[in-house]
Amino acid sequence: MGTPPDPSLALCARDVRKSFQIGGREIEVLHGAHLELKCGERLCLMGASGAGKSTFLHVLGLLEEPTEGEVWLQGKSAWTLSMADRAALRNRHIGFVFQAYYLLPDLSALENVVLPVRIAHSYGSVRFNKSRHEAEAAELLTKFGLGERLRHRPNQLSGGERQRVAVARALILGPEILIADEPTGNLDTGTGERVLDLILDEQRERALSLLLVTHDQRLSRRCDRTLIMEDGQIQADSTVVIPQ
Ligand SMILES: Nc1ncnc2c1ncn2[C@@H]1O[C@H](COP(=O)(O)OP(=O)(O)OP(=O)(O)O)[C@@H](O)[C@H]1O
Ligand SMILES: [Mg+2]
Repeated sequence: MGTPPDPSLALCARDVRKSFQIGGREIEVLHGAHLELKCGERLCLMGASGAGKSTFLHVLGLLEEPTEGEVWLQGKSAWTLSMADRAALRNRHIGFVFQAYYLLPDLSALENVVLPVRIAHSYGSVRFNKSRHEAEAAELLTKFGLGERLRHRPNQLSGGERQRVAVARALILGPEILIADEPTGNLDTGTGERVLDLILDEQRERALSLLLVTHDQRLSRRCDRTLIMEDGQIQADSTVVIPQ
């Protein structure tokens, strides 16, 4: 295990490799990717389709195990922890927003947002209090313009509304890190802009460390730095600061 990274980093990935087994063949998708996300910064990750951005985000978000490499947060090398400890770390410190929302279809908007709190309760890190946590979730959803949609199921919501529920779910436990994989990718331009505004407003208010994957240049211009991923690696010279 390497040395712990500088504490000014919210997330640090070193030499991440990831292979998949396809039809008995091993295919390496990430070939030693590095990334440093500073506390409170907005970092954008771009790159061609198939470059490995989502795969990298899943490793960074502790959702998918790398074949090799380290991911550090909260002073811990997350992939050396037990599965339970890693899941608890992810649950409390990382919010994840997916392009395809991934809300649970049988739960209401409110229940989807409260779900991470119930999970945190099962890890023993939060004591679930139904009325208090439902009130917190309702407050967040109301702030996001969904006060009239609390009891709606995902299939009764528009794409933009679903993504706003997903952002609320990602933020309900007050994580320091928010990882978003093409959060506006399924939305039309206007709806996507509103979801993005909401994410960036929350980033500012909460001083979140934000890692955002996008294909949209306009979105990257609203971030502090942009990294480029090419063929499973972060380009060494890709710390582009795109002018405003
Ligand atoms: N579970 C998996 N099993 C096998 N191969 C996979 C798996 N997940 C991803 N891959 C492969 O890894 C490569 C990178 O995929 P990934 O989804 O990370 O790309 P991406 O940069 O996010 O692309 P996009 O911009 O289209 O979302 C692709 O060639 C893909 O086929
Ligand atoms: Mg992707």
